[in-house]
Amino acid sequence: MVLPQPDDDALTSGRTARPRTILMCEPTYFDVNYSINPWMDPSRPTSQASGLDQWKYLHDLFVELGHEVELVGARPGLPDMVFAANGATVIDGKALVARFRHAQRHDESEAYLEWFAQHGWTDVRMSRHVNEGEGDILFAGDVILAGTGFRTTRAAHDEVAEFFGRPVISLTLVDPRFYHLDTALAVLDHNEVMYHPPAFDEQSRELLAAHFPDAVLAARADAEVFGLNAFSDGRHVVLPQAAVGLAGQLAERGFEPIGVDLAELLKAGGSVKCCTLELRR
Ligand code: ARG
Repeated sequence: MVLPQPDDDALTSGRTARPRTILMCEPTYFDVNYSINPWMDPSRPTSQASGLDQWKYLHDLFVELGHEVELVGARPGLPDMVFAANGATVIDGKALVARFRHAQRHDESEAYLEWFAQHGWTDVRMSRHVNEGEGDILFAGDVILAGTGFRTTRAAHDEVAEFFGRPVISLTLVDPRFYHLDTALAVLDHNEVMYHPPAFDEQSRELLAAHFPDAVLAARADAEVFGLNAFSDGRHVVLPQAAVGLAGQLAERGFEPIGVDLAELLKAGGSVKCCTLELRR
């Protein structure tokens, strides 16, 4: 794999990558055979082989960037399990395992509960309320940002605040194409985010503007190609390659955008961040 060489601007930008531990799930059984979001069209063919190739590229890129990648085993009958971000939220060594909204994904919770138990995590709870993990719960440094409107419930946000003992800002999503918070907002660094304002209701837009006055605002074209479904290590921002406008905005801020092609997984309504669950010890 050939990584983009940092140019002088990036070298002097002061952005520092912090190595992360990531949990991923190989798309062994990936398919689109039901529809639980507007991107999923079961009549459109999918290719398991190219899905696997694209995912493998992302996996190897994370390793190349110095991150530690762990794997949870894919299970037959769970075609969306590749979207590991939805499996849990993990902060301060504590894991809150997801409770999925749709029956098609219910059995994924058990796979995550077993994975955490087998890997020595002791402070683990399954969410009491519908909570789709890092799809809707994002750790932004001083606060946890929690999405609701389509999947995770408002009641789950209180459970998140109580379980992690950290402040939570509730945000309401209003556009069904951006049904998870991680399709409309990404954390770039401590207290630094990028987001697409029209994906949120007015009150949430006000909260975001007040908390993150310097946020990168993504245009519709970049949001629609899932540009916000990105993973940042504080310096490198891995995002869908089609989000060219956003990549330019990130470079101006001193980040190193790295575009990847996950077109196959996008047929299920997921991209980079959806495949990436950060494990914070
Ligand atoms: N097909 C999956 C669903 O609708 C996609 C999940 C994408 N994951 C995410 N973190 N946004 O549940």
